[in-house]
Amino acid sequence: MNILFVCLGNICRSPMAEGILRQKFRDNGIAGLVESAGFESYHINEPPDDRAIETAKAHGIDIRAKRAKLFSSEDFDRFDRIYVMDEKNFRDISFFIRNDQDKAKVDFVMNLLEPGRNSAVPDPYYRRIEACEEVFGVLSRACDVIINRIKDGSL
Ligand code: 4NP
Repeated sequence: MNILFVCLGNICRSPMAEGILRQKFRDNGIAGLVESAGFESYHINEPPDDRAIETAKAHGIDIRAKRAKLFSSEDFDRFDRIYVMDEKNFRDISFFIRNDQDKAKVDFVMNLLEPGRNSAVPDPYYRRIEACEEVFGVLSRACDVIINRIKDGSL
């Protein structure tokens, strides 16, 4: 099962989600790609934001090796599921969708926790580090749902 997380800058939310799910894949012996990407180019090839690195580190996850990259249409060919963080990501990704198969792969990550509501994982970039910790908790619970669904065969 190959999973891609997408946010705007690919330096805060989606790199944390990537680190969390990679760890849970390892812990649960699940094989597959876990990556992340963004839509805006300001931070391409940069490591995650210091606050995201620190927050992940506090939970025993090292995301320092991640480098920000842009989403591309080929990602629809490499990944089985693509989770966006908010409405803007959902709009941005819609311009890349080529067919119904691509479309069916995309969902809001929060729909794993609150099905059908299309809620956002708020952008912590302009907030204090505590916001990163909140985001980390939400993403970790969403990733638990992914793990459970892979295990029971519903994903
Ligand atoms: P992210 O946060 O989408 O969670 O990585 C952001 C990071 C950088 C910017 C915006 C959001 N930015 O505008 O530079």
